[in-house]
Amino acid sequence: MTEATAASPFSPLKIGPLTLKNRFIKAGANEGLTGAGLPTKALVKHHREIAAGGVAMTTVAYGAVSAEGRTFTHQFYMNKDVVRHLRVLTDAVHAEGAAACLQITHGGSFTMLRTEQGYPLSASSGFNAFGFLQGILWQTAMQERDMQRVAGEFAQAALLAQEAGFDAVEIHMGHGYLLNQFLSPLSNKRKDQYGGSVEARTRFPAQVLRQVKDAVGQHLAVTCKINQTDAAKGGIDVQQAAVTAALLEAEGADMLTLSGGHNMHSPWALFGSPMPIGDMKAHAKGLARIGPWALGLQQPKDLSFRELYFLETARQIRQKVTMPLALVGGVKSLSAAQQVLKEGIEVVALARALIHDPQFVNKLQSGQISQSACNSCNRCVMGIYDPNGVRCVFNPPNDSALVKAFAGD
Ligand SMILES: Cc1cc2nc3c(=O)[nH]c(=O)nc-3n(C[C@H](O)[C@H](O)[C@H](O)COP(=O)(O)O)c2cc1C
Repeated sequence: MTEATAASPFSPLKIGPLTLKNRFIKAGANEGLTGAGLPTKALVKHHREIAAGGVAMTTVAYGAVSAEGRTFTHQFYMNKDVVRHLRVLTDAVHAEGAAACLQITHGGSFTMLRTEQGYPLSASSGFNAFGFLQGILWQTAMQERDMQRVAGEFAQAALLAQEAGFDAVEIHMGHGYLLNQFLSPLSNKRKDQYGGSVEARTRFPAQVLRQVKDAVGQHLAVTCKINQTDAAKGGIDVQQAAVTAALLEAEGADMLTLSGGHNMHSPWALFGSPMPIGDMKAHAKGLARIGPWALGLQQPKDLSFRELYFLETARQIRQKVTMPLALVGGVKSLSAAQQVLKEGIEVVALARALIHDPQFVNKLQSGQISQSACNSCNRCVMGIYDPNGVRCVFNPPNDSALVKAFAGD
């Protein structure tokens, strides 16, 4: 696409049954605002402010599809009780003129929870490198009956999202969670029809997508977040990701959000800048202290932030599919957003720029600013583990009374 024909970032776009008022969406970014496992008034405020700040759609992160699918105890999972709390949030977002998306997730073996059923599920059995730090040494390979159950849980979660007033669901297939554990050769060692070639590794995630589409696809946009690269030796690369993208398009995805990086193997790659190792060490307890220490050794020493750090891979995926694509990763300016659209990628997904300033999009549109003041320090990420939730460390803390009050009470 040439500069002359590139769409404006402020023009509308249809994804499935949903029309976005512009091309900016809030990327799913665990808010840490679901203490005691329920959405809080602080979570509502967070998304209301982002909606008021001009995005077309805000994404509530990390709604686990079941209790077993959680990574943290303070994460919420989709069930009847959570719906009324989420309804308050979607009403608030709609009142500000934006759409609301729920990211639906299963952590697989990326979990800090010990379950009564035994070791956590994953694509393959064996040593659980993440769980090990939490004292959960092993993981269990999913049987076909487990896959059917979990695919059904994704569909049920999407139906509950619809009941809660969401306009879209994003199925999380990236970053090392269960569906990425199937897609990635780092974690999928299966010898059956769900392992081996990239087509086989995509089979279960595509089945999940199909079930979600069948459940809610007439009413909700159904999108998927995928890794274009695991940024780790032997992991997903862009050629494999392009095959997955085409298979998900064929299965009816309304949009793909193109991300990358792996929570275990390359967390810095998600962010294109170093992780806050000092903060992580200060927070970690017991065996979990090994995590930041090992990360400090692995993390490239010469890593410095540049905008649009996933653009090169996204270009290659753009050539293989015709569906709408969203690019996430290092959009911090109007010119970067315009560049994304010039490349024929329809949507810009933002996390840190909006955590730093929920008004970022309005300010770009009015010309008040052309650049985010977020410095990509990633210290906001530590808020996931903070009882007071995620915030930009240069902004005031979240209101502790709102953090303690459940959204619907
Ligand atoms: C505090 C924080 C929490 C995040 N949690 C999630 C998450 O729950 N799910 C997800 O898909 N990505 C998560 N991400 C990654 C973002 O969606 C995004 O891919 C990444 O921040 C790069 O985009 P950015 O440059 O616009 O920040 C998180 C990012 C941040 C900063």
